[in-house]
Amino acid sequence: MIDPIRNFRRAFSVLSVAAVLFGNVPSARAEQAHREPHGDAAPAATPRGKHDATVRHSFDDVQHWVAMFDDPARDQWQKPAELVRALGIGAGMRVADLGAGTGYFSRYLSAAVGESGTVFAVDPEPNLVAHLRERAEREGTANVVPVLASRENPRLPAAGIDLVLVVDTFHHIDDRPGYFRRLAGCLKPGGRVAIVDFKKEDLPVGPPLDHKLTRDQIVEEMQAAGYRLVAEPGLLPYQYALIFGVPARAGDEPSKKTD
Ligand SMILES: C[S@@+](CC[C@H](N)C(=O)[O-])C[C@H]1O[C@@H](n2cnc3c(N)ncnc32)[C@H](O)[C@@H]1O
Repeated sequence: MIDPIRNFRRAFSVLSVAAVLFGNVPSARAEQAHREPHGDAAPAATPRGKHDATVRHSFDDVQHWVAMFDDPARDQWQKPAELVRALGIGAGMRVADLGAGTGYFSRYLSAAVGESGTVFAVDPEPNLVAHLRERAEREGTANVVPVLASRENPRLPAAGIDLVLVVDTFHHIDDRPGYFRRLAGCLKPGGRVAIVDFKKEDLPVGPPLDHKLTRDQIVEEMQAAGYRLVAEPGLLPYQYALIFGVPARAGDEPSKKTD
């Protein structure tokens, strides 16, 4: 006689093994199936903690991401020229595009810093970093320096950066307070970090709701990392833009003469 409970248990254990083996590895097909106007693929892993990435997946399929991130329709809502203008980038500055992706912002940042400045286009995905170099050569942006980061370390020079731009990337980073506390060591005195990310609302573009972080959570995490919010230009329809600075530490201030 067929024992339905035993059959159910057997099927469940087979599925559990399959989930352990494959569950956290997104297949290329799963990514294709979840394509959005400008968004992420299906989640690759359960987040480990409240400051961990809300989604982990591969960015190795360059052509897939070029079609998404460099879609000309994006310009209408991303307003890259206006956004870069609002960041107050001056000639000669050294700026980093953290999670540079396909280099959507590269040429705008390159023009803003000019010939005497540098744009570090930082990404942990080797295929994208190769693409960033090819793109810089194609676009003739000699001041763009691609950087192969690790997930925990942007590999930027110590005390060398005026501004770090982080667009649609914050939610991909693990242990964000720890990460951005370490990143502060890459900033010049007075350096800033600009975080642009999707509002946690239903939007016609961007990742699914459960991959997004609220503006307040980002502010709270950046404060936990030692930053304070210094500006919030409200120029984008679907994203917030939050600009943070690091208050000078007491020990960094010039000592007062007592005699
Ligand atoms: C949604 S894309 C955004 C790309 C680009 N900023 C844009 O707006 O077009 C996120 C990027 O973050 C990168 N990324 C993921 N984890 C990262 C980490 N820990 N540190 C830096 N970049 C990361 C990915 O490789 C990917 O290129």
